[in-house]
Amino acid sequence: MITQALQVEPFDLVVFGGTGDLSYRKLYPALFRRQHEGQLSPGTRVIAVSRQRMSRQEFAVAVGDALKRFDPARASNPDALASFVDLLDYVIVDAGGDLGWADLKANLGDDPARVRAFYLATSPDLFGKIADRLSAHQLITSATRVIVEKPIGKDGASAAEINDALGAVFGENQIFRIDHYLGKETVQNLMALRFANALFEPLWNSGHIDHIQITVSESIGVESRAGYYDKSGALRDMVQNHLLQLLCLVAMEPPASLTADAVRDEKRKVLQSLLKIDASNASERTVRGQYRAGAAFGEAVRGYAEEVGDSESVTETFVALKLEIENWRWAGVPFYLRTGKRLPERISEIVVTFRKAPHALFAADAGRVHQTKLVIRLQPDEGIKLWLMIKEPGPGGFRLQHVSLDMSFSKAFGGHAPEAYERLLMDVIRGNATLFMRRDEVEAAWAFIDPIRQAWSDSKEPPRPYVAGSWGPSAAIALIERDGRTWVEDGEWA
Ligand code: BG6
Repeated sequence: MITQALQVEPFDLVVFGGTGDLSYRKLYPALFRRQHEGQLSPGTRVIAVSRQRMSRQEFAVAVGDALKRFDPARASNPDALASFVDLLDYVIVDAGGDLGWADLKANLGDDPARVRAFYLATSPDLFGKIADRLSAHQLITSATRVIVEKPIGKDGASAAEINDALGAVFGENQIFRIDHYLGKETVQNLMALRFANALFEPLWNSGHIDHIQITVSESIGVESRAGYYDKSGALRDMVQNHLLQLLCLVAMEPPASLTADAVRDEKRKVLQSLLKIDASNASERTVRGQYRAGAAFGEAVRGYAEEVGDSESVTETFVALKLEIENWRWAGVPFYLRTGKRLPERISEIVVTFRKAPHALFAADAGRVHQTKLVIRLQPDEGIKLWLMIKEPGPGGFRLQHVSLDMSFSKAFGGHAPEAYERLLMDVIRGNATLFMRRDEVEAAWAFIDPIRQAWSDSKEPPRPYVAGSWGPSAAIALIERDGRTWVEDGEWA
């Protein structure tokens, strides 16, 4: 059973980019579900802000339509829908100009103790401009927080500019940088698994772990986001944030406490300990690919270049990396990361492979002794599996079998775990920044990513092609097989 969440105090959430895709697809459905679960207190308000000319009524209809699309089961209840729509308001504001700011100020009133959160679901170019105007119009109270979406910049320098602009008007403790992977239940479970069990932590080091794989594969292509994606690519869109954050949680030292700063200090140290990848080693440690026409779920799909309408595009839609963390715990343990679009399945998982048993006790005819593996699946079918060797039951010799101890979250707890944005939005209101990125973490992640980008662009080599619906370029398979290892396939989960 999933336990009832505690109510949060009433708040005003102001969403810049309030008529954008992220807002309709993720933010309003998340708030709707939290209200449905009784977590929002009476008096809470959600105020969308955008340049688009629209009345409150028209906006409410648009949100209702979005909820029916993205949460049809709950939205089929007219009372639930009506009570959520009651929370909504709409103010026309030009985020980069002067229009509407006085209206927004009047709308928000002047209670300094009321929690006020500004969600910047806009392009990062606007973050600084919005921050300046919030300050100029005296909209920032001591109970104000600001939430920013990735990407925080496109490299270290632009991230520092954005962070400076935000830091000029907000304290670091008021800035909530979202990486929605940190709000996923199984990601948080990594901390429980590591630090609430005596079993794993003593083995969580190079003495016992052979290697770790992190895979975040998607079957979708770039869909309607070609404009953004073609300037970003998989390294910036997925690795700089989601995959590196997963790596940090797997590899960090036990924090002194679960306070935001203690956890973020440990994550930052992991990023700072990564072996640098640059022109000297990028060809052995990185593979980038771009999908060509192929098939997804039995249907023919176009190649990336056709989808974005640029036959010369060298944007990568796939990345595989071999990383090393240069510290005492992880010296010599490779971390293989891969992510891509138009891969065969949507899977996010972390696989920890332990070292071989030190001595071959069993005769060859007992069967192959597989290495112990811990598989932490983030999506779909969230859960944890521990693969072990056991004796096949019955008489007639001693044969070994590879079997898994399974923990499926949906079977163990029933129902659906809350989505990442639900958890993260409520954490902002409570002022808990543990699952958000601190400035120095974002900048340390860019400091690792920038030399890889530089090496790729200096090499002048285009990304390697892969057929849509395959597991990426063959070079990605070679990257791990050169070390005598293989990518873990879905069979380890089924
Ligand atoms: C986003 C990326 O941050 O994460 C998208 O910009 C990607 O390109 C998405 O599709 C994946 O998130 P999830 O939660 O569906 O795995």
